[in-house]
Amino acid sequence: MKKKILIINGPNLNLLGEREIDIYGKITLRQIKRKLEDYAREKNAEIEFFQSNYEGEIIEKIQQARKKFHGIIINPAALSYTSYSILDAIKAVNIPCIEVHLSNIFARENFRKNTITASACKGLITGFGWKSYLLALVYLLS
Ligand code: DQA
Repeated sequence: MKKKILIINGPNLNLLGEREIDIYGKITLRQIKRKLEDYAREKNAEIEFFQSNYEGEIIEKIQQARKKFHGIIINPAALSYTSYSILDAIKAVNIPCIEVHLSNIFARENFRKNTITASACKGLITGFGWKSYLLALVYLLS
């Protein structure tokens, strides 16, 4: 059966490419989506790509993934540091989930070092730019 992976992006990631380019680079979210689609196609898999600036929408997306997706890749952005609701949603669905960040969250401000949501995930990939997503996809499709 074709594997389906859901990729979720949190607040402000829609501004990639123009936002703090010294940290996140010039790549846009649309370009990341294309690169991941290319890899998924190579592996005969499918991805769904989603971005929202709203916590509730992200929670609903995670809940709706039940029985539809083999894995989830999530960049909760700043919600990583505040959202017990996303943490609980990831725990509730019982789908392997990998948290990713473009930047190395451990090499930045102290508040970024405490990701709440990562504790519900199988693992955390941080600091490899758009390739953080790719590494997570390689794992989930292996
Ligand atoms: C981020 C890191 C977060 O600390 C920040 O709030 C983001 C982006 C990243 O991908 O590096 O919005 O998740």
